[in-house]
Amino acid sequence: MIITIDGPAGSGKSTVSRLLAERLGFRFLDTGAMYRAIALAVLRASAEPANRAATATAARSAQLQFIEDRLLLNGEDVSLAIRSPEVSAAASIVAASPDVRERMVELQREVGDGGSLVTEGRDQGTVVFPRAECKFFLTASVSARAERRVRDLQQRGIVQSLQEVQQQIQDRDQRDEERELAPMRPADDAIILETSELSIDEVLERMLQLVAECNGRPE
Ligand code: DC
Repeated sequence: MIITIDGPAGSGKSTVSRLLAERLGFRFLDTGAMYRAIALAVLRASAEPANRAATATAARSAQLQFIEDRLLLNGEDVSLAIRSPEVSAAASIVAASPDVRERMVELQREVGDGGSLVTEGRDQGTVVFPRAECKFFLTASVSARAERRVRDLQQRGIVQSLQEVQQQIQDRDQRDEERELAPMRPADDAIILETSELSIDEVLERMLQLVAECNGRPE
């Protein structure tokens, strides 16, 4: 069974996706981390994220490996490095490149071939796994998402103002929604969950109920 969870940054998607996978005993795939790793490779090569040739080269040559919840880029653990604000901004630019998306989709489907999976991103239900048994789209207001993001960053020792984060979120949303290829949007058959007023536990419980209804009981 494949469960896709799409939605914007700060919708609570990353946390609940991991928890949902854990509760169901499914594997988990964080596809945003993959785009972030390519963005990091591009920045490290001192190239512009919008430079199509440079991003294509990075996407082709990067070796990505998930080991539990760590992501290795060419053998190096970049789990923390990919969470910086610079990489966040570059990732949404890199993610508009057709060459990058083509390579990422291929890798993601390979993971999907391995059996039961919870996968989170922007295009998992629309493009990568259109036949997934259970699809979610999580949303929340920009202000709720910015507040969550600021708290997240604080926990990682990164200090940013609410206003700054709100602006970054709006810029990224716009790029993710307006790009030509695989724009962020709910699949026609996705269940849309508004999480602004819900705790992580409430979202998780609701999703567990809905998963049970999606396709009979998960195996
Ligand atoms: O979910 P995230 O913030 O880690 O994602 C980082 C960027 O990658 C985000 O701006 C959009 C892009 N992305 C994408 O285009 N498609 C995905 N499936 C996942 C992420």
